[in-house]
Amino acid sequence: MSVAIKDFKDNVGKSVTIQGWMFNKRSSGKVAFLELRDGSGETQGVVVQVSSEAFKIAQELNLEASVEVTGTVSRHPKFKDKFELQVFAIKVFQNPTEEYPIGKKEHGPEFLLDNRHLWLRSRRQAAIQKIRHTAMYSIMDFFDKRGFTRIDAPIFTPNACEGTTTLFSVDYFDEGKAYLSQSGQLYQEAAIFGLGKVYDFGPVFRAEKSKTRRHLTEFWMMDAEMAFHDQKMNMDVQEAMFVYIVEKVLEKNMPELVVLERNVEELQRVKGPFHHIKHKDAWKKLADAGFAPRENDDFGADEEIALANMFDRPVFVENYPAGVKAFYMKRDPSDDSRVLCADMLLPGYGEVIGGSQREDDYNILLGCIKDHGLKESDFSWYLDLRKYGSVPHSGFGIGLERMVTWLCALPHVRESIPFPRLINRLRP
Ligand code: 4AD
Ligand code: MG
Repeated sequence: MSVAIKDFKDNVGKSVTIQGWMFNKRSSGKVAFLELRDGSGETQGVVVQVSSEAFKIAQELNLEASVEVTGTVSRHPKFKDKFELQVFAIKVFQNPTEEYPIGKKEHGPEFLLDNRHLWLRSRRQAAIQKIRHTAMYSIMDFFDKRGFTRIDAPIFTPNACEGTTTLFSVDYFDEGKAYLSQSGQLYQEAAIFGLGKVYDFGPVFRAEKSKTRRHLTEFWMMDAEMAFHDQKMNMDVQEAMFVYIVEKVLEKNMPELVVLERNVEELQRVKGPFHHIKHKDAWKKLADAGFAPRENDDFGADEEIALANMFDRPVFVENYPAGVKAFYMKRDPSDDSRVLCADMLLPGYGEVIGGSQREDDYNILLGCIKDHGLKESDFSWYLDLRKYGSVPHSGFGIGLERMVTWLCALPHVRESIPFPRLINRLRP
């Protein structure tokens, strides 16, 4: 039975076998040092017996050789929490005959993305994926503890959720066009009537024509929806969820945060209460900072980031103009031109969550559908929800990759997802 490298601390002095890959090698003629990883951790294999079969094999190993290595676990002579393997046997699964394309020299992003299937093995990329795992798992854990039921939403859909300009369409047999889901929200709304509090988690698609550091064409979204929740309660859930995710990452992923050289103080500052500002007042702040005020417009990327940077913790920007948001948001009863919504912005980054209270009145919702130029017949099922036991309800969606990008302080969202899909990238 093989042992995981991460469990070496419990195996000091014992003879163990590990299975993994050799990602680096140094050899002095008398000693060979093999850097090995197995997915759980990394260790250094030390081969000293020059006359041994193991030494001969070690000399021949090339980068990324897959191996089974047997030896005795020992403490690292210099570092307290590090361990080594004093190797006495090596079995080779495959020894590459071609030079591994990702070497020590600096590679450009396009080269690395072309070789994403190999790049994923690197220490930094593995660290990002482990943090992504914690983020996703802790979201599910958070909702499970709070009595939510997971409802998986369909990906082929007959209508838009977030505006028609970013829809991907596919031919769907005799039904005509189907659209790839932009968000599972509308289906979550249907599910609250039987289950109260629900969420989904899955891939969504946006034909975003913009080439930015924050946009993917395929990304993972978690949509939550809650019956009998107004927008204030909605934001409270978002805050608690976000604090929980960051707590879990700090608890489980300190080694990965170190690999990424993440400033953890910024993460440790993520405690409630988050800041709140009205959209109108946000424009006033931006005007003070030298931006041309456009209080009835959405923010551009620069403005959004500048705004987010004015706060030391996440901030909810509330009550956007109805015209810049989706059709389903409920009008603010005190100002009909605005909606009961909030985007949550992260310092140094910008929007990570979009949420709102939903319009729950049949006639008003029908008017909104028409105002947005959408076809009533496409939304008849959604309108039905306002006919049979309609209730005040709210929800939100968080983009997993944007969150991971921020948690890891990555320069671009493309590193946060295993195989990024961008406007100009479909491979590997
Ligand atoms: O703000 P959005 O468009 O909201 C919705 O889709 C709602 N239906 C959610 C809901 O209320 N259930 O998207 C939600 C989040 C954004 O805040 C952002 O984090 C992420 O999804 N997002 C993207 N992430 C990567 N690439 C893109 N092109 C993204 N578009 C949105
Ligand atoms: Mg949004």
